[in-house]
Amino acid sequence: MSSIVILISGRGSNMQAIVEAGIPGARIAAVISNRAEAGGLAYARARGIETRVVDHTRFDGREAFDQALAAEIDGFSPQLVVLAGFMRVLTEAFVTHYHGRMINVHPSLLPAFQGLHTHRRAIEAGVRIHGATVHLVTPELDGGPILAQAAVPVLPDDDPAALAARVLAAEHHLFPQVVRWFVEGRVEVGPDGRARIRDVASTAACLCVPDAVNA
Ligand code: GAR
Repeated sequence: MSSIVILISGRGSNMQAIVEAGIPGARIAAVISNRAEAGGLAYARARGIETRVVDHTRFDGREAFDQALAAEIDGFSPQLVVLAGFMRVLTEAFVTHYHGRMINVHPSLLPAFQGLHTHRRAIEAGVRIHGATVHLVTPELDGGPILAQAAVPVLPDDDPAALAARVLAAEHHLFPQVVRWFVEGRVEVGPDGRARIRDVASTAACLCVPDAVNA
């Protein structure tokens, strides 16, 4: 049985999607937040999942925070660490410690729109297709090997909130699927640094609306 620790900073809807998907062969050992008020913590507690808060404002610098966070995570001996809306830049030492076993969902079709405010920037750029990416985490911010992506249209009247909602719905299908593949041991990274999902149709790693919302 694989043990998974999920890190959140806010409402935790992706965490909920993963919990509700039910990943065969895995259990969600803990949900950890850097914010005590993160909405997702109440959901996790109600589901009987262990929760922890490591409040970043109580630490003097990123290194101290990341060390405390790693100590909490490692207490659950996870095979996989899932960043599900965890809004902290992580130190290289932390990322290296979880090399090959930490994944993140980012609200854009990477490598486009790394960083923040992705939906507003996509609208301002005039792109017609936007989406979400699940990738392995490396020290390069939003730069690790891409595991799967979901594409959604950008509609003429979209504002950032409307586009964010469409992308989020796609994330809720994409992310649990990638967690399943990881637990099944299908995620591989080649010598070229590119990821592939073994024994899965290559199209399964690229969801497109309406498939993403009807799946
Ligand atoms: C999601 O849209 C996720 O892609 C994004 O935060 C949201 C969290 O929502 N993550 C990032 O921007 C990471 N850089 P949730 O708390 O409801 O899952």
